[in-house]
Amino acid sequence: MWTRRNVLQALGAGAGLVAVPAPIRRALAAAEPDLILRLTARRDEVSLWPGARTAVLRYFGQVLHGRTDALKPSPGYLGPTLELRRGERVRIEFRNGLAEPSIIHWHGMLVPESADGHPRFAVGPGGEYVYEFTVRNPAGTYLYHPHPHGRTGSQVYRGLAGLLIVREDRERAYGLPAAEHELSLAIQDRRVDDNQLVFKRTMMDDMNGVLGDTVLVNGMPDAAFRVTPRPWRLRLANVSNARVYKLAWSDGRPLSVIGTGNGLLSAGEGIQTRPYVVLGPFERVELLEDFGARRPGAEIALVSRDFAGVGMMDMMGGGADGMMDGMMGRGMGGMMGRGMGGMMGPGQGEELNLARFAVAAAARSPGETSRLPPAEAPPQGRHELRTRLAFRHMQGFLNGRRFEMAAVAGDERLPLGKGTVWTFVNDGGMMAMPHPMHVHGVRFRILERSGGAPADLGEGLVDAGFKDTVLIFPGETVRLLVAPTEPGLFMYHCHNLEHEDGGMMRNCLFGPPVRGQDRARRGSLQ
Ligand code: C2O
Ligand code: CU
Repeated sequence: MWTRRNVLQALGAGAGLVAVPAPIRRALAAAEPDLILRLTARRDEVSLWPGARTAVLRYFGQVLHGRTDALKPSPGYLGPTLELRRGERVRIEFRNGLAEPSIIHWHGMLVPESADGHPRFAVGPGGEYVYEFTVRNPAGTYLYHPHPHGRTGSQVYRGLAGLLIVREDRERAYGLPAAEHELSLAIQDRRVDDNQLVFKRTMMDDMNGVLGDTVLVNGMPDAAFRVTPRPWRLRLANVSNARVYKLAWSDGRPLSVIGTGNGLLSAGEGIQTRPYVVLGPFERVELLEDFGARRPGAEIALVSRDFAGVGMMDMMGGGADGMMDGMMGRGMGGMMGRGMGGMMGPGQGEELNLARFAVAAAARSPGETSRLPPAEAPPQGRHELRTRLAFRHMQGFLNGRRFEMAAVAGDERLPLGKGTVWTFVNDGGMMAMPHPMHVHGVRFRILERSGGAPADLGEGLVDAGFKDTVLIFPGETVRLLVAPTEPGLFMYHCHNLEHEDGGMMRNCLFGPPVRGQDRARRGSLQ
């Protein structure tokens, strides 16, 4: 969509010049937005460790029109937290102040095609992209991050990401803790050297994804929170390039899950308790945690427990520079020891401390008795799609294909407004690793998970509720039910950012079904 502004820019480029103007594209607004925000991505320096400056890339936000509380600053290097209200009409102007192309994707949000942040919309240095959408998602914890092809991993790693929280009035009616009794934790791991976040990709990183040796929460090391002894709503987001966490409380208390990413669980599903919760890259989970059940003055930590799915990176000591170090050192030995069919990839060998919580020495306050929203009616119709995930020669494949900017195959078309059962099969095999699969522009339900989740992780999966990203373990077949509502070209991909950048990503088209093609393609795949 060309607007007056960029037509003017194009004219200003002068006759005979082949320069491509920085495009400003936007969807046509039906009405003036309630909220106009500007997000600028640029270099910054922050102080994360005493006496040191750390170079980062960062989103800076401004409210140009509407509620000034729509942006909440983040303490470390993350972008401001966007707090949107369901039903609100939003315009967001993205300005690229980086020295490379970029574009923002609103992860988990049901936005029109033009506002999805597909890599084909990436704008160059100095470019601008205008998003317009109405907030249609229910109350929940979402994310925003860059999505230029091949650069998502490094841009996120260097600091470009933020939380996006959708609020609704009815949350109060459910008795959920109010905003002052809420905490959001964006969990990331980084390789830190000389107080800098070091992004280097070796062959091992292309395979495992980039794994760090230091945990940062909300862009800060050694995160610590003070809480009052009452129920709190905790929003946990894994914003790591590749690491899978096994989230637990240091004192062994179970976690009470009220949401699994794209909204709250329903009343029928109820609050689900787990001894720990397994969270893959860009998955979120919402907890209702009663800190009043601890003794006042208690200190507890949110940890990631060790698990057996040790990644090759960990065997190499977490920061090896070359593949050979690992191969010759502990790497191959460890891998062989676990059997070639064992899970490789982003696991971990030891417990990590993520954040500390100090419970105030105050009298316990009872807090609310929370309920959950009624279930949503399932979509009608049963289209079927099947996608095989494979990883070989250090590259990920989706039904044998890799990313192409504009291509859509017959088995990548989903009918609009009807239910599609999308089956993902993770082959496992030699390069067995979990893949966090994400579909843009939709929220889905998990109908079935069969096969291989490792015994020490399966217990920590919460497959209820709506999600937009699902961790699929080697040997597993996961069936999703999805009903796209926005027409157009969206995408699905592995959200291990190094797999994504490496091409484990494809377009999918939401629109009228193309009958013959679908049938032919299904036939050839079964
Ligand atoms: Cu969160 Cu296509 O990404
Ligand atoms: Cu993957």
